[in-house]
Amino acid sequence: MTTHEARDIARSRIAGGAGAAHRHDSAHKHVTGEAIYIDDMAEPAGTLHAYLGLSTVACGTMRAMDLKQVEEAPGVVAVLTAKDVPGVNDISPAGLHDEPIFPEKRVEFFGQPLFAVVAQTREAARRACRLAKIEYAEEPAIIDIAEARAGAARLVARPLQLSRGDATRAIAAAPHRLKGSMRAGGQDHFYLEGQIALAVPGEDGDVTVHSSTQHPSEVQHMVAHALGVPANAVTIEVRRMGGGFGGKETQANLFAVVAAIAARRTGRPVKLRPDRDDDMTATGKRHDFLIDYEVGFDDEGNILGVDLTYAARCGFSADLSGPVTDRALFHCDNAYYYPAVRAVSQPLYTNTVSNTAFRGFGGPQGMLGAERIIDEVAFALGKDPLEIRKRNFYGGAGRNVTPYHQEVEDNLLARIVAQAEESAGYAARRQAIAAFNEKSAIVKRGIALTPVKFGISFTATHFNQAGALVHVYTDGSVHLNHGGTEMGQGLYIKVAQVVAEEFQIDLDQVKITATTTGKVPNTSATAASSGSDLNGMAAQDAARQIKNRLIDFAAERHGVPREQIAFLPGRVRVGNQEIPFPELVREAYMARVQLSAAGFYKTPKIHWDREAGRGRPFYYFAYGAACTEVSIDTLTGEYVVERVDIVHETGRSLNPAIDLGQIEGGFVQGMGWLTTEELVWDEKGRLMTHAPSTYKIPLASDRPKVFNVTLADWAENAEPTIHRSKAVGEPPFMLAISVLHALSDAVASVAGHTICPRLDAPATPERVLMAVERLKREAAGKA
Ligand code: MTE
Ligand code: MOS
Repeated sequence: MTTHEARDIARSRIAGGAGAAHRHDSAHKHVTGEAIYIDDMAEPAGTLHAYLGLSTVACGTMRAMDLKQVEEAPGVVAVLTAKDVPGVNDISPAGLHDEPIFPEKRVEFFGQPLFAVVAQTREAARRACRLAKIEYAEEPAIIDIAEARAGAARLVARPLQLSRGDATRAIAAAPHRLKGSMRAGGQDHFYLEGQIALAVPGEDGDVTVHSSTQHPSEVQHMVAHALGVPANAVTIEVRRMGGGFGGKETQANLFAVVAAIAARRTGRPVKLRPDRDDDMTATGKRHDFLIDYEVGFDDEGNILGVDLTYAARCGFSADLSGPVTDRALFHCDNAYYYPAVRAVSQPLYTNTVSNTAFRGFGGPQGMLGAERIIDEVAFALGKDPLEIRKRNFYGGAGRNVTPYHQEVEDNLLARIVAQAEESAGYAARRQAIAAFNEKSAIVKRGIALTPVKFGISFTATHFNQAGALVHVYTDGSVHLNHGGTEMGQGLYIKVAQVVAEEFQIDLDQVKITATTTGKVPNTSATAASSGSDLNGMAAQDAARQIKNRLIDFAAERHGVPREQIAFLPGRVRVGNQEIPFPELVREAYMARVQLSAAGFYKTPKIHWDREAGRGRPFYYFAYGAACTEVSIDTLTGEYVVERVDIVHETGRSLNPAIDLGQIEGGFVQGMGWLTTEELVWDEKGRLMTHAPSTYKIPLASDRPKVFNVTLADWAENAEPTIHRSKAVGEPPFMLAISVLHALSDAVASVAGHTICPRLDAPATPERVLMAVERLKREAAGKA
């Protein structure tokens, strides 16, 4: 399969059933502008607009807040501060009460929302915000990881320790050992649709909020607490997000809550949409990490023991930093067996925006540590890093246990990597690149092949549940609802395919409907890549309940045994007659058969004891491998991604076209994280890179010049997941680690591959150039 074609993994006999490479249900609406995002919705009569006033210091207390001029500004209807929160002034998702909606006194980061203005127009609200006069007693701020560690090293969440064997002894006894540290930068989500909420007040204090959120149930609870009303007074609805990427797992809370408070206060609908600069300043991002590593290994490159510390800049509150830093540790092994290991997390408090979920959820940062160790070992022994990778893969007797004591059962690493190596022509190209570099004085090439093994499930076991609601109407058309949200990843179409498959009706007979807390309650965030695993199963359960009732009914009505009833495309065989699906449905309705069902699913097998650092946090692993070739200009540090070959497995894909899109998109987003996307805060704690002018996401022209993506269609999930598929949302992001290592390989060529470049991320052209200069100096010093 190549980039522009996706083959049906055809198992289904209906149009758009399970396995069909069907286009995204909204693709045509996305590109024509017909898709309705919240800001496109017709505004209800009397809609007002809110805007947030942000702090201009990173740390301190507010001595005085003079909002008189704000209140008197043209068009202003209301001004809201901490005092105006009717219920609890808290939106901390971890339940630690460390994140106020608006602070009462204490300011903890530059850009923290302090108050909101409600006005006739968005522009009036925005302008009025600037008229606030706030007096601060400023205090020294802790901005980065180094400062946080140099000081009290206050933590926002409990650290995790994983260990197996005696790492200290194993390293001490190893024939070789080395240590180092690496920095991995953060990342802004850069969703195309920014944060937004529209709150519409109803009767009796009820409110409906249209929110661009991955987690409608959490928004519901936050709004209810903030208003001081029960959850049943609040309905959250989301048809789609224009991208979430983890940035709307908790970060939508604030906007929904402020819009709801404003709606309650004014009795009118209120919309809140920050502009891009304020969105980037005031919302959390991917955590940047400082990873300290020590490794012991033998002459062949077998790793014998590792000791790792993952320190993360978490910002001023916990948010999801606990689980994010946990997941970093869960991926400190990536694909490699460590005979002895100790890994600890350090979730550090800083006076910066509270960092949050971002595709991979700490996993990518965790894997970077593992891959750096591999490079270090390879350079120390003068071997090809791919050889060291393969040597240390999980597999073989007694080499299947992870640092968290889960066994790697379904191990596809060797096969996936062999296929990627073969299709990329790795060995021949490595030679060709060496020959090229020999002759080329300024432009140098590099290549790297890196694997991905990513754990699927929420590590908080109770989140691994989902619900769905399916109605069959009397004309045979189907209404589908579930707790998952659509952010462009294609969850809605996949779940609709599952339902179409159950009833054996064409996909266009299944109406996909907006996620709402009123139809399916108590849902988990659409996150951890588990959206289709969980909601697909819940929807299948609902559809099967209705199907079973139809079978019971048909058996009785037509006097045939249940076994002689089968759902065929568009019709049902009942004994020796065939009845069109809509006709059977109508008959069943007339006989008073219930044609609606609520479905449910919970992931089996998983458990996790955090204190002991043991369990089976993941139902299964998703695997992939990528080979990347780059060229760098050693005079400027500029580079080009010449070619990428990916082999990735999604089990028996529910929709190969969607999966291909996830793999390509995830890879490019990962590449952005590791190359051009750089977050810079000044010494005052002000984010300097708060717009596309200064924050560089990948452009169309940055994509790999040759981009071959293959779905490993031989794979199927060993666990009975929905149609034996696997999650795909996050794992491909980490395939981009091959870009960082290819850049590193190209840099290493300037010193004849004798020195490990220790290239940190993001490897901006500037950083590549500095690494080239450093290696040239070190090589000259050695000579
Ligand atoms: N793809 C698109 N187009 N837009 C997104 O916001 N989010 C990613 C991934 N793919 C995202 C995306 C993240 S962070 C996750 S966890 C998964 O999709 C969530 O959806 P799923 O569980 O249905 O795969
Ligand atoms: Mo994805 S980071 O789990 O929303």
